[in-house]
Amino acid sequence: MERTAPVTHKIAILSSGKSRGSNLAAIHSYFAERKLPVEIALAVFTRSDSAAYDLASNLGICSLVIPAKDMQDFEQQVLKLIETNSIELIALAGFMKQLSAIFITQAQIPILNIHPALLPKYGGKGMFGMAVHEAVYAAGDKVSGATIHRVDPLYDHGAIIAQQEVDISECRSPEEVAKFVLKVEHGLYAPSIAKVLGIS
Ligand code: GRF
Repeated sequence: MERTAPVTHKIAILSSGKSRGSNLAAIHSYFAERKLPVEIALAVFTRSDSAAYDLASNLGICSLVIPAKDMQDFEQQVLKLIETNSIELIALAGFMKQLSAIFITQAQIPILNIHPALLPKYGGKGMFGMAVHEAVYAAGDKVSGATIHRVDPLYDHGAIIAQQEVDISECRSPEEVAKFVLKVEHGLYAPSIAKVLGIS
């Protein structure tokens, strides 16, 4: 009997502002290196002058720029793209905009986010980028980490899918904490996506 090739799961990445794209790159290489049937079929950026946009384009990922000045328009365009490209899951990576309840409902697919701390601690409005690591460091925490969670209309609030801790007791600055946590992020996001897609 002939073997049929596994169905490729198409996912989309959303990234806003001048994002770096390191999680996008980590997700891409995780699935490519393991030859797993998951493809970043679409990456949407809110501006083209970001490292993330260049990175995605260089990786041959279909990369589109949709300005997010008008969030309603942004969401409508993304919804259309999701449908036309048969996207099964959206992963936010460096996406700092709030998605509406209407978008989340209409998308009808899982939407995940990565947060550079152990939620529910250090989450919510204004808690992004270095602000998170500065707060963790100022509190004198010995452990930080990364969280993958489902997206709901509140910042950093949806159900937690995966969390990984990292010892930061040796860190001497918030920048060092950020470095330790980013390493954890890179190892956590792709396996969580695989889990939600049911391929792990
Ligand atoms: C990461 O720290 C992630 O946790 C947060 O935004 C940052 C994005 O970094 N949501 P990168 O663009 O993936 O390098």
